[in-house]
Amino acid sequence: MTNRIKSFYSLYSNNCSLVVDCRGDSPVILYWGSRLADETSPDMLALLATSQELQASLPQEAPIGLSPQTAAGFSGSPGVQLHRDGLQWAVYTRIESVSLTDNKLTIISACQGTQIQLTHCLVLDHKTDVLAATTEIVNMGESSLWLDRCDAPCVPIPKHYSKILSFTGRWGNEFQSQSIDRFMGAYVRENRSGRTSHDSFPGVIVHTEQTNESSGSAYGLHLGWSGNHHVRVEEHFTGQGYAQLGELFLPGEMLLEPGQAYKSPVLFGASTDKGLSALSGAFHRHVRANLTDRRIANKIRPVHFNTWEAVYFDLSLERLCALAEHAREVGAERFVLDDGWFKNRKSDNAGLGDWAVDKTVFPAGLAPLINHVHKNDMEFGLWVEPEMVNPDSDLYRAHPDWVLNTQPAPLLSARNQLVLDLTRVEVQDYLFERLDALLNEYPISYLKWDMNRAIHQPGDQNGHAVGHKQTRSLYKLLARIRSAHPEVEIESCSSGGGRADFGILEFTDRIWTSDSNDALDRVGIQKGFSMFFPAEVMGAHVGPDVCHITGRTLSMETRVGVAMFGHMGIEANLLGMGRIETQVLKAGVALHKKYRSLILSGNLVRLDTHCEESAFGIVSQDGSEALFSYIQLNSLSSSVGGRLQFAGLDSNSLYLVNIVWPTEPKSYSKSILDVINGSTMSGDALKNAGVQLPIMHPASMLVFHLHRIS
Ligand code: DGJ
Repeated sequence: MTNRIKSFYSLYSNNCSLVVDCRGDSPVILYWGSRLADETSPDMLALLATSQELQASLPQEAPIGLSPQTAAGFSGSPGVQLHRDGLQWAVYTRIESVSLTDNKLTIISACQGTQIQLTHCLVLDHKTDVLAATTEIVNMGESSLWLDRCDAPCVPIPKHYSKILSFTGRWGNEFQSQSIDRFMGAYVRENRSGRTSHDSFPGVIVHTEQTNESSGSAYGLHLGWSGNHHVRVEEHFTGQGYAQLGELFLPGEMLLEPGQAYKSPVLFGASTDKGLSALSGAFHRHVRANLTDRRIANKIRPVHFNTWEAVYFDLSLERLCALAEHAREVGAERFVLDDGWFKNRKSDNAGLGDWAVDKTVFPAGLAPLINHVHKNDMEFGLWVEPEMVNPDSDLYRAHPDWVLNTQPAPLLSARNQLVLDLTRVEVQDYLFERLDALLNEYPISYLKWDMNRAIHQPGDQNGHAVGHKQTRSLYKLLARIRSAHPEVEIESCSSGGGRADFGILEFTDRIWTSDSNDALDRVGIQKGFSMFFPAEVMGAHVGPDVCHITGRTLSMETRVGVAMFGHMGIEANLLGMGRIETQVLKAGVALHKKYRSLILSGNLVRLDTHCEESAFGIVSQDGSEALFSYIQLNSLSSSVGGRLQFAGLDSNSLYLVNIVWPTEPKSYSKSILDVINGSTMSGDALKNAGVQLPIMHPASMLVFHLHRIS
């Protein structure tokens, strides 16, 4: 409801409170953190925040508003930057109206000088504790408005949140945690790759020195956007700290004509005083409650068999049918035909754009293979890369002008491919028509939607930069496919984890986490991924014994043990796999199936470990069951490791403890492995005393199962 503007507005969720101060001209986050007691009033918070005049500064420092403004005296990074042909650039807004309904706060402000309206919308989700915040700008004037920047709402960061944890990486090694001390100045990540990127995840965690996985305070922030972005955490000389996340516009790409609006991508935020696992818990709850499409929310995620690392481009119907039989034999439930199935696609040199079945491999189309897959009780999935075209394709020969470019600079091809201009209606229509035809012709229940290059030259035929429009057009195409074929699930893949964010999850159901199936590298990749995403959207496959990216050889036990904690799949040549390896794989798939409802719906508790090891648990929502995974990554500096202290258990309950993976764990002399199975332990003992680990080999692991018996 809209009425007189009050001084403060408070939003509450199960565990958090957010208070916005509307006393001045700009709305400011006064408090965001643990849920406030009923006795706490916003006036108390305001009094506690009393500041004083700084030496050699303004009598009163400018507030860190939701969109901080230069004209208000803020000398940090402004939240909105714009102009009208070089004039009317100095934004100074005043609040015009505020409404608060169902924990959704909408603040409308206007600027006379620049003739804009800003709408800040903040929603604190009661159940998940996740804050979703946007900034919208409308051109209220009568001339064109150049918008250079419009960030999602700015979040003040408490001074004692002195650590910045971010996620960087590269192809084949995404989601690498990078922790630095906050410093005077700005920590800035800018992504101009035209996709979410492998190297600059649009998210950051700021936390205190003491914060670890199970205790301490932190904010987690993530921009749900699959295109160019920037992330900034700045400490100003005044002592104020803030985080700004927003879209990164290319020169001149955002022009608002009179009456037109731009809305920032959604900033998702979580706040905790219970450590980083709890922070992730909030994001996981958000994905489960708000991003998981209802049509698959209660569907069991089937174990995949993916053909890529089994055959690459070397496809034959006979081989694929044989693979399907073996896949079923080891327990796969969905067969995904990866790259190589369409016309002229014998390598990555040709074919992209021509989405017709290669008749030299499949003379009777895909039907014989799909029938065979169905006969083997598996669903059928298909790989596509719609946004791309190879110059060696019928599509490119017919429409060379359909690609993004920055003429007169020469076209840059990467992986022998160019990027289609999705902002053109005819391109959208062509791609929709091709995909729609395939989905109508064949019973395909799953699309692996790949995107194998960055958008280095994001210009359209008229010379305009189209970074923003290209991303919006992709969303539009995905939405169109989804609405025409609601039963088809879609995976977001971009050379592995190059397009993993909450924006793409609005339209997709699974993320291919990384092209690296090296189980040891996967431990770090999956850990970083788990900071924001739950296990059920994390594609995790058992690769071949020798990883094609790292060249490292790892045991089947370890490959299976790492992959089983996500949406599990197999991506190896089963036809060439030895009998014992196949048996171990089969047992691992069976174990995943046995516990997958726990794995794919439980609470993740990452454990704090040395860098030589990694461990986490998944505890069921009611605390009655848990799995804990421990992996020893390298040789230890001591003869034997320490205790593994399980977190997240109910101290007063008794649990039946069993090691469930590997099926026959071995140690070189008598150890815990000989006595633990079938024992009954209190949650308290498991948490506070912990299990003494046995002497283990590097790159080996143990999975414990706990079941409450009282
Ligand atoms: C990159 C993907 O990440 C791989 O899994 C595979 O689908 C290849 N592309 C196929 O070209």
